[in-house]
Amino acid sequence: MITFEHNKDLTSLTTFAIPARARLYAEYADVKDLIRITRSDEYNSNNVFHIGGGSNLLFDGEYDGLILKSKIKGRQIYLKDDKTVYVIAGASENWSDFVDWCVENGLGGLENLAGIPGEVGASAVQNVGAYGVEAGDRIFSVECFDSFTRKVVTLKPNECKFGYRTSVFKTEAKGRYYVLRVSYLLTPSDESSEYGYGPLKSFAEKLGRVPTIGEIADEVKRIRDSKLPNPAEIGSAGSFFKNPVINEYYFNEEVLRRNPDVPSYKAGENLVKVPAGWLIEQAGFKGKVVGGAQVYPKQCLVLVNKNNASAEDVLNLSNEIIKTVNEKFGIMLEPEVNIISTKMKITILGSGTSKGVPEIACGCRVCRSHDMHDKRLRASALVEVDGQNLLIDVTPDFRQQALRCDLHHLDGVLITHSHYDHVGGFDDLRPFCFNGPVTVYLRHDVNEDLHRRLDYCFKSHLYPGVPVFDMKEISRSPFYINGTRILPIEVRHGKLPIVGYRIGDFAYLTDVKTISDEEKSKLFGLKGLVINALRRREHFAHLSLSEALALIDEVKPERAWLTHFSHEMGLHSEVESMLPENVYPCYDGLEIEIK
Ligand code: EPU
Repeated sequence: MITFEHNKDLTSLTTFAIPARARLYAEYADVKDLIRITRSDEYNSNNVFHIGGGSNLLFDGEYDGLILKSKIKGRQIYLKDDKTVYVIAGASENWSDFVDWCVENGLGGLENLAGIPGEVGASAVQNVGAYGVEAGDRIFSVECFDSFTRKVVTLKPNECKFGYRTSVFKTEAKGRYYVLRVSYLLTPSDESSEYGYGPLKSFAEKLGRVPTIGEIADEVKRIRDSKLPNPAEIGSAGSFFKNPVINEYYFNEEVLRRNPDVPSYKAGENLVKVPAGWLIEQAGFKGKVVGGAQVYPKQCLVLVNKNNASAEDVLNLSNEIIKTVNEKFGIMLEPEVNIISTKMKITILGSGTSKGVPEIACGCRVCRSHDMHDKRLRASALVEVDGQNLLIDVTPDFRQQALRCDLHHLDGVLITHSHYDHVGGFDDLRPFCFNGPVTVYLRHDVNEDLHRRLDYCFKSHLYPGVPVFDMKEISRSPFYINGTRILPIEVRHGKLPIVGYRIGDFAYLTDVKTISDEEKSKLFGLKGLVINALRRREHFAHLSLSEALALIDEVKPERAWLTHFSHEMGLHSEVESMLPENVYPCYDGLEIEIK
C-alpha cells in the first residue's frame, strides 16, 4: 500500500537542514510499489523529483509536486573468484556504511570514498568522487526502473555516461530512471591500489609500504573530518561548486594573464581543471557570512548552514561568489549541488519588432517617448527553470541584453527561426563558450542557414577564440535539456514554418501568423503565454493585436503577455489600458514568475 503524504516537511531529509516542504511525498520498497505510484494521479499530474540521501540538494522554496524516495535496502556479495568480487547494494543503503562493510569484508576499491554522506543510488547518479577514485570506476551495472516504460532495465557503465560528478541520470535521462540497485566490481585484496592522490601519497610515504584498504579508509575519514563539516553537527551539502574544467587556450590567454598564480591540473585534451576552493578563498570569501549561510572557513568549496539559513541566503551567497570569482579570474563557477525548484522565471530581454523601438531616424511620438517601457530591443527571453538558464533567440541586441540582466551562465539556446532579428547576436555568445560549446536547439533548415552565415564557427581548423556551438536539430517532438522537458510548437510566420516553445506551463511564441489546430492543442492549460502582436493593422506574416487577442481567448492561458511590438502599436501606457483582464504588454526587463 502506497501512501502519499501531503505538505511533507523535507528539512531532515537533506543534509543542508534548510527548511523545505513538498506538496506530496511517497516512499517505495520495491518495483511493485513503483508501478502503483507511476500509475497514480498524484504521479501523472504533478512535477516529480526523486531524492536519495539528500546530501547534495538545496530546495529553493516549497516543492510544488511529488517527491519520491527509495527504501530499497540490502547488500550482498554475489560472485567471487581470486581476482574479482561482484557486490550489489540497494539504492537506499547508506553509502558510508556500505563502504565500511566492503572494507571489513576485505573488498578493495571503494575505500577512497569512505565517509561520504548520501546513499548508494546517488553514487551512480552523481558519480561521487574523492581522493583519486570515482564511483563510476568501480560500478559494474545499475539496475533501474524506467518510468517511461515501467520496466526494469540494467545499464552498463558506458550507458551510464559517467563524467565528473555527472551521469546519464543527471543529464539526458534526468527524471526517467529510478535507481533500484547498484553492482560494483571490487578486488578481494587487503592492499590499497589507489594511493597516488596528494595527501594519500604522503600518508603512504610516511608508512613506507603499501597501505591496507582499512588504513586508507581511516585516513580518508580523518582528512575529511579535518576539512569538511560533519553533517550531523552543521548543515551542508559537501562541495557547493564543481571544480571548473576549462579550455586550455582560454586558461593560458585569459585566466593566467589576469592572475599568473591560478593553479590547474591537466583534465583531458585541451582541458584543465581549476580548484574552485582556491579561487573562492583568493576572491576573499573565506568564512564570509550572508544571512545564516557561510563559506566554511576550513574548505571554501563548501557552503554551510551556520545559523538557521534559508535557501535564499545560500543562493545569495553563491551568486555573490560566482560573480566575484568571474570578475576576478574570468572563470564561471557552476553549482555542484542540485538546486530544486518548481518556480520558473522568465525575463523579457527584448519586446520590439525587427527594427526595434525607437526606429532609427523615426520622429513619431512612440519613437520619441521618454517612457522606458517604449524602448524595445529585438524580441528575446531568458527562461530560468530547474536551476538552468535557457535563452530563446539570440538577437542583434544580445550583448546589451546579457549585460543588462547580468547574464553569467547559459545551459542552452532555443531558436525560433533564422530571421536576422532573432539570430544576429550569435557571435556575442563567445563569453559562454569558454568551457565548451554552447548547445543550440533549432530546426534543420535553421541549422543549415546558420552554418552558411556563421561558416567561421564550423570550420575544421577554428581561429582561436571563435564561438563554438553544439547544434542539436529538433522536430515537433518533445526533447529534454538536462531533464527539463521542452515541447516545440510549429507555427507559420507568413508561409515559413517556425517554432515556439512550451516549457512546463509556460509557452513563448513569436512571429506567428497562423497555427494549425493540432499545434494549437499544445497551448491548452497554460499558466503563462507570451505571444507576438505586431501592431493594430493587419500584417501578412505577424498576428495583429486583434488576432493575437482572439488566439489568447481561444487557448485561455491564466495570463498572457504581448511582445514583438512595432512603433505602430502605440505607447505602452495606451496599450496597457486597452487590453482585456489578464493580458499585458511586454516591456524590456519584464520579469514573469510562473508557480
Ligand atoms: N584549496 C584552497 N582553499 C580552499 C579549498 C581548497 O586553496 O578553501 C585548494 C587546496 O589547497 C588544493 C586544491 O584547492 O590545492 C584542491 O583541494 P582538495 O584536494 O581539498 O579538493 P577539492 O577540489 O577542494 C574535491 C571534491 C571533494 C573531495 C576532494 C578530495 C569536488 C567539487 N570536490 O574537492 O568532494 O572530497 O576533492 O578528493 O570535486 C563533494 O563532492 O562534496 C566533495 C567534498
